[in-house]
Amino acid sequence: MSLKSEKEIDSMRRGGKILGLILAELEKLVRPGITTLDLEHAAEKLFEQYKVRPGFKGYHGYPSILCTSVNEEVVHTIPNKRVLNDGDILSIDCGVILDNLNTDSAVAVCVGKCSPETKKFVDTCIRATWAGIRQVKPGNKIGDIGHAIERVVRGGGYRVVPELTGHGIGYKLHEEPYVYNYGKPHNGPAMKPGLTIAIEPILVNGNPKIYTEKDGWTLSTKDGSWGIQHEHTVLVTESGVEVLTLRPGEVSA
Ligand code: MF3
Ligand code: CO
Repeated sequence: MSLKSEKEIDSMRRGGKILGLILAELEKLVRPGITTLDLEHAAEKLFEQYKVRPGFKGYHGYPSILCTSVNEEVVHTIPNKRVLNDGDILSIDCGVILDNLNTDSAVAVCVGKCSPETKKFVDTCIRATWAGIRQVKPGNKIGDIGHAIERVVRGGGYRVVPELTGHGIGYKLHEEPYVYNYGKPHNGPAMKPGLTIAIEPILVNGNPKIYTEKDGWTLSTKDGSWGIQHEHTVLVTESGVEVLTLRPGEVSA
């Protein structure tokens, strides 16, 4: 488990801030009628503008800047010609590399006018992320995060996908430790100042069994139920937590 120096933290802070700005811009473009490929093209321009490197493109051969997963697609969908419809749900997942250091964040969004049930599902994912973030402080254990996340998810009547987890993050996109979306309080590795982790609840409103689609990347639900993901990269500080990928105006949920 690597702990970051002040200098490394500063790079991740700057990268995370840019990632927050980029995701906020992309979220504003989401509306019925656009395709997820439109979002990828917008992302290309934003990465040029901010002069940062995408974290996912080339990662194990992944071809794109974004993962844009819609409805029954849970995570890791390559942007494509799928048109977004009123009432759909979308996760936009993105990574930034600055000074060779990664930050990773995703936004869960409703497309156009969603039903109250759909809104509740998306909101629960965002609230679960923040419930996890609130457990981050020195001395608390990684299991405290997962426990808090699963409580919120189960409370809403949903399930987490057990094999999809958050992770440590730094020079590599995925570092130790695994940050499970379930867990026992006071269990697992202890958090120390300087640890940077990505917290990413991934939930479904049906059966959590998933499969890989023909594109080799997209993970979708077997039963066609919907999945959603939200994510922040956070730093364990001396006194608690700093969210490195906060978007402008974003407040905890
Ligand atoms: N946030 C995703 C994760 O931590 C990023 C996936 S990168 C990809 O798994 F290249 F696999 F898409
Ligand atoms: Co991640």
